Amino acid sequence: MNILNDIQFYITPPTLAKRAWDMFKNRNFQRVLEPSAGTGELALAGKRNSLYGNELFPDVCEIDVEKHAILRSKGLNVVGMDFMKFTSGAIYSHAILNPPFKYGVQHTLKAYDCLWDGEVVSIINAESVRNPCTAERQLLKTLIENCGSVEFVEGAFAVPEAERKTNVEVAIVYLRKKANLDKEIFSPVIDSISVDEMSASGLAGNYRDAQEIALSNSSIENMVTAFKAAVKTMREAVMAEARSQYYARLIGETMAVRNGDGVTEKADTSVNFVRDTIFRRYIEIKDRAWSAVLRSSNVMSKLSSNAQRTVEKEFDSIKELEFSVDAIYGFLCGIVDSQTEIQMQMCCDVFDLISRYHEDNLVYFKGYKSNSKHRTCGMRIKTTRFILPRHSAESYQTQLGWDSMRMLEDFDKVSALLDGKIKPVVGLVDVFSTQLAALRQGERINSSYFSVRWYPGASTIHFFPRDKKMIDRLNLWVGRRRAWLPPTEAGVSSDFWLQFNQAEKFDKEVRAEIKKAGRGQGWWKNPLYMLHSNEGSSRDEANAAIDTLLDTVLERHGIDVDFRLTDGTEPTKVELLQLKAA
Ligand SMILES: C[S@@+](CC[C@H](N)C(=O)[O-])C[C@H]1O[C@@H](n2cnc3c(N)ncnc32)[C@H](O)[C@@H]1O
Repeated sequence: MNILNDIQFYITPPTLAKRAWDMFKNRNFQRVLEPSAGTGELALAGKRNSLYGNELFPDVCEIDVEKHAILRSKGLNVVGMDFMKFTSGAIYSHAILNPPFKYGVQHTLKAYDCLWDGEVVSIINAESVRNPCTAERQLLKTLIENCGSVEFVEGAFAVPEAERKTNVEVAIVYLRKKANLDKEIFSPVIDSISVDEMSASGLAGNYRDAQEIALSNSSIENMVTAFKAAVKTMREAVMAEARSQYYARLIGETMAVRNGDGVTEKADTSVNFVRDTIFRRYIEIKDRAWSAVLRSSNVMSKLSSNAQRTVEKEFDSIKELEFSVDAIYGFLCGIVDSQTEIQMQMCCDVFDLISRYHEDNLVYFKGYKSNSKHRTCGMRIKTTRFILPRHSAESYQTQLGWDSMRMLEDFDKVSALLDGKIKPVVGLVDVFSTQLAALRQGERINSSYFSVRWYPGASTIHFFPRDKKMIDRLNLWVGRRRAWLPPTEAGVSSDFWLQFNQAEKFDKEVRAEIKKAGRGQGWWKNPLYMLHSNEGSSRDEANAAIDTLLDTVLERHGIDVDFRLTDGTEPTKVELLQLKAA
């Protein structure tokens, strides 16, 4: 069965939510968990009623990932998906839940089980408490009798304010779980140290070098295993430290302190302190674990530096998730799902980089998109050569600077992508890190996709694409994305494609027209400059001006500048060729 058919989404009505929150006895809400949060109504009811301070944003789990964005938009930290697989409950002082009715008892027991020291309030079907006919129901009944209470409410989901109504009677179960301090923190360690351990090696016992048990590879399962081991041992270490402090205090002060020459460190062995310390360290370990996933070559190698920055910006919400195999797969699937968009973005980033820095890198054509007065000016990168400035290295350096190397890495990724490969056999990065001396001497060197020449004095790199088709493909992808070219299903006259294909040939004439029109005007009025402006009105003016000048050149070559659309059913011969090339 599809689990999402079985999630039973019923929002807790506000009156019932307030009543549930009111069941908590300890009002010091250190850290609250809502394990099946839906769209967050129950989670936020404490804050909404201004009962317990305005900063009360519980951490939440929710199995339906489509609700995660809503939960985050409401300021809630999504820390997990399937609560039944959640393992980090020990850091919470409170759990409030309205789980799916069918699994109410299991969720309530799980919440009780995973808290270390705290209170649970759970809204479940009254029948599960009134009729303890299973072992789980029996266990819940015993817990309620020993350390809790229950209130029954009729018609709580049948009120007008309930978004989805049901007539079922509910039970609000309250459970108080107390850490067994004697057993957990102050256990009789002294009894177990029967031998007087005097030497350092004696005290270390059978401690073994961590190297010996180091994990050999970085698969997801191993990452999670390492994470769990780190959390478990951290928890033991914090508790051991608390125990050690406690017993040290029982023994008394050092001689130096007694003589007034030393200070005794204040030791806090309270439950709150231990829980808080565990929480802080847990967050740090989780941060490390998620950044290891993000930085793993599998993820980052597929993204351009710009796309990497976007993912890194989302790191704050990603790292809130519990570090589990499911959550990592969920995150990776998200990347795979958006792969097409990421790849398109990478192509646009590289296209923009090439077009931004050197106006000679581009040629212009009449774009597909138009308004009532003119067509948008389409751009394409020259297939013969383009130049990028600002790439230098000091004479003692064996590589270009960091930014330059990242840019070359992006070029390598996009070229391979356009060629249907994962990476180039010889990348630009390889060329510029192993052959800088030769490049310095003025040699022209080949990577798989470009022939390059570096001019260190001018800090420019000249790129000569080795396969014109690769740049054609880049121009086509970006052109379609920016509506300079028609979508694949649209039919356009052959003259449209003719002027697009011949744009490099007409470039000299177009620039001469632009120059002629600009005579006597300031450089800032040059439409090629205005086209890259941040101001929409300047860009509009530039688009209109270039459109008119392109008309002049195209008419001279007998090309119909009106580009009437064909009937849209049959692609023209030229279109077919274009599609094939793509
Ligand atoms: C009855 S609704 C309650 C929603 C929310 N707690 C409220 O009171 O408004 C139950 C919610 O639990 C979610 N859920 C079901 N099984 C879950 C699981 N194993 N882990 C986390 N959430 C789960 C469902 O998607 C649904 O949103």
